[in-house]
Amino acid sequence: MSKHYRKDETGETVEALTVFLADTAVIYYKTHGFHWNLEGENFYSLHLMFEKFYTKLWKSMDEVAERIRALEAKVPSNYAELLKKATLKETEAVPDIMTMVKILRDDYFALAHKAYEVRAVASAQGDFITEDMMILRATFLEKAAWMLHSSLTN
Ligand SMILES: [Fe+2]
Repeated sequence: MSKHYRKDETGETVEALTVFLADTAVIYYKTHGFHWNLEGENFYSLHLMFEKFYTKLWKSMDEVAERIRALEAKVPSNYAELLKKATLKETEAVPDIMTMVKILRDDYFALAHKAYEVRAVASAQGDFITEDMMILRATFLEKAAWMLHSSLTN
């Protein structure tokens, strides 16, 4: 198999992608948890919006993990190991409906910013495949953050 990258050159990208995967896992579960636990007058529309978002996040985890494998590194094989890499925080209690929207908006913006950072690391290594993936991730995350922001009633 011909390779465009030498394994010893991809370490920074692999580390950045692994942190990105961990942070995606945090907001994936947070979004799904809010989908289950939310209550209030906007229940149905937010329940559906959160489902749309967590489905995309779940699919993106597969793409990011498989990019790590294509760069010849291993992906953490359990949640405990993966979550050690996370920089975004999990939510302890169940917040009220508008606090959920604010938390997700801020997390999605934060993860979009991290996608910019991973893109820059990959760019320095000439890895345009990871760059392209991160541009698509940031595009989704910023759009989702805008939709969440626009759902706030105050
Ligand atoms: Fe559901």
